[in-house]
Amino acid sequence: MSRLIVVSNRVSAPKDPAAGSVGGLAMALSSALRKYDGLWFGWSGETVEKFVPEAKIEDRSGVTVALVDLEPQDVDEYYNGYANKTLWPLFHHRVDLTAYERSYGEGYERTNARFAEVLAPLIQPDDVIWIHDYHMIPLARDLRRRGVTNRIGFFLHTPWPARQLLVTLPHHRRLVESMFSYDLIGFHTREWLDLFRDYIASEPEVRGRLLPNDAVEAFGRVVQTGVFPIGIDVDGFLKARNSAFGRRTYDRMAASAAFRTMIVGVDRLDYSKGLEQRLLGYEQFLNDNPDMRGDVFLLQVTPISRDEVNTYQDIRSRLEGLAGRINGEFADMDWQPIRYLNRTYRRDQLAGIYRAAKVGLVTPLRDGMNLVAKEYVAAQDAEDPGVLVLSRFAGAAEQMGEALLVNPFSREELSDAIKRALTMPLAERKRKWECLMEVVRDTDVSIWRDDFVASLRATNRPADGSGNA
Ligand code: F6P
Repeated sequence: MSRLIVVSNRVSAPKDPAAGSVGGLAMALSSALRKYDGLWFGWSGETVEKFVPEAKIEDRSGVTVALVDLEPQDVDEYYNGYANKTLWPLFHHRVDLTAYERSYGEGYERTNARFAEVLAPLIQPDDVIWIHDYHMIPLARDLRRRGVTNRIGFFLHTPWPARQLLVTLPHHRRLVESMFSYDLIGFHTREWLDLFRDYIASEPEVRGRLLPNDAVEAFGRVVQTGVFPIGIDVDGFLKARNSAFGRRTYDRMAASAAFRTMIVGVDRLDYSKGLEQRLLGYEQFLNDNPDMRGDVFLLQVTPISRDEVNTYQDIRSRLEGLAGRINGEFADMDWQPIRYLNRTYRRDQLAGIYRAAKVGLVTPLRDGMNLVAKEYVAAQDAEDPGVLVLSRFAGAAEQMGEALLVNPFSREELSDAIKRALTMPLAERKRKWECLMEVVRDTDVSIWRDDFVASLRATNRPADGSGNA
């Protein structure tokens, strides 16, 4: 069996899978590499004064990782810049937050070329290469330029944007053209794939063709595309939930709730997660239902994320203000409506927290998939499950239609959904939970990983082995 080379900007192979924190991508990739022999390549998270084109190879609890240090300018322009100030907001439909600086695009191209320079010599003839996320879209093109002819797949963990927004990017055509160096491109949902296909078929600067079985042709090349919905490691998560630490956390939360009903939200501190809108929706619920005040509280776990980026600093201070204002207005001497925490918990603790919450609020404004939705469902007790309130604009909504689907922009809809979740009869909760749990099992991360890798292996490589340079 050939090796699998996984490539992502962030590399983090947790020693103990139960100890991993929020961040589905890292968990999913470390599980892929525990199964297939191979290598995980990416940025070390460190900087050096002068770039050295050589990877540091390490063993991290059975996973071989190859890490590259970047120069501070690379981190500014590639990671903080093009990835997180340009592509991330644009792909989440926030053109108002998108930075269109030329230097960011140049830093992105330079850094991806550096990754290719270090990665190319590590590749053996039979290796299959799987590149992840918006940080590294042009990497296959740069590897092809260095003569790599192996099969290379790409998976996007974010939404793909509508064509009308994508074209605001000065080099949208160049970015998409670089994707035609892959053999397979995967998205979480049919919706994101259809938006990609729309760009290929309708963009006047491209005028590509849609071929049978989701293949697309443009720039003189054909690439296979597909929908591969990511999921969680169900058995691993249940093990974490049932572990001594998971159970202790559940007991601790149940005791601390003190006969009150807990509503939970767990999200990186990111404007795409709809956190302000969620707090406003919860405030609306408190206003609409004065009789329920004092009986419920919202635990909002929000680890700080990308804190060098101004838009993340802004959302952080707005959320602090909002949580403080709502608490100031509604709290009583023995009750606080919102417990707002900027910290990270281990997976087993999170499982215990989810299990103790009767309502899970997962209300992003736009999200590639959202694995918190799946973890919340997996953590529930079959005999007395909680209710998932899910944004229609999360990729997960394409599969999890049995959740209470909401428009996260509407505080009235959020308020109504919270009330409905809190008052839902047991029989309905059980029926919904069983359907949702089936989805969680049917989209286990091992299925996502194996489907993608098998589809990539099955793609046709050009007979001359030239690759799509
Ligand atoms: O899932 C999307 C994603 O951007 C991943 O690529 C990334 O590792 C994760 O969110 C967390 O973001 P960051 O690596 O910027 O902390």
